[in-house]
Amino acid sequence: METRVLPYSDDAVAEAAGLILAGQPVAVPTETVYGLAADATNGEAVARIYEAKGRPSFNPTIVHVPDLDAARAIGEFSAAALALATAHWPGPLTLVVPLRSDAPIASIATAGLATVGIRVPAHPAMQALLRAVGRPLAAPSANASGTISPTRADHVIKSLGGRIPLIIDGGRTAAGIESTIVAATGGPLRLLRPGPIEIDAEPASEGKIEAPGQLASHYAPVKPLRLNADDAEADEFLIGFGTVAGNANLSPEGNLIEAAARLFDLLHQADAAPQPRIAAATVPETGVGAAINDRLRRAAAPRP
Ligand code: TXA
Ligand code: MG
Repeated sequence: METRVLPYSDDAVAEAAGLILAGQPVAVPTETVYGLAADATNGEAVARIYEAKGRPSFNPTIVHVPDLDAARAIGEFSAAALALATAHWPGPLTLVVPLRSDAPIASIATAGLATVGIRVPAHPAMQALLRAVGRPLAAPSANASGTISPTRADHVIKSLGGRIPLIIDGGRTAAGIESTIVAATGGPLRLLRPGPIEIDAEPASEGKIEAPGQLASHYAPVKPLRLNADDAEADEFLIGFGTVAGNANLSPEGNLIEAAARLFDLLHQADAAPQPRIAAATVPETGVGAAINDRLRRAAAPRP
């Protein structure tokens, strides 16, 4: 794929919006770092972010919206969350809040969690793109997995050139580091990632046991999961792939982008099914299949 670089302009934004509405990811500057933006309401579009980044695991992505009203259509804002949003948006602050049950966000964007990270960016290019697309944009930093975050268009070219169709070049980003992330999911505010905005909140401690009001960083089904299943035992809900039909199928055609887009929906469906156990068919390790398998293996690992 040829990667085009267009200087930030109305035409560049219109072109980027067209690609995003067609399900493609596009690199765009924000005031922190360049983001790789895709339609957050389209699971396959979000899966293509993972494919382009070569990221071997799923992480919830930040959902970008143009203003607080759009944010409140996606997340539930406590008084404390509203106060932070009002003080710092638009700007380099991400708020993790409970996901509204009627939010049109693809489950792969939140990695199946019941919370969502939302940000209203200030950069005019990202603002213009959000308004041109008219949908929330999932956007992690626009770099290949395991490399540092890009602050210039040529950093994005070096990292993702040939893997994405378009980069909007808005010059060097102002902050140069990723947004501050604060969780407002009940209980005291917690700082999940320090960043350009200083916030008076408890640092979140990793690896703690999940308790009400605490934050799950990864979704996994509650039921035991068996991997590489060719067919289901009597007490299993089988998540199929390709010719292994299953009770529900990640992708009957064996398409990994489609499978990634459906993974978290099917895990939730399996958890809600009458069968007490889950089995999953083999998924190839190629492309975004690596991230699918990473999540399935974590879900299958014994938990304390
Ligand atoms: O400045 C930024 O935040 C940039 C620009 C592009 O907006 N984006 C960015 O995205 O840094 P990313 O994907 O590289 O980092 C997102 C972080 C991840 O560490 C992820 O775990 C966390 O946000 N995150 C997102 N949603 C979350 C959620 N529901 N719960 C916990 N953590 C969440
Ligand atoms: Mg990143």
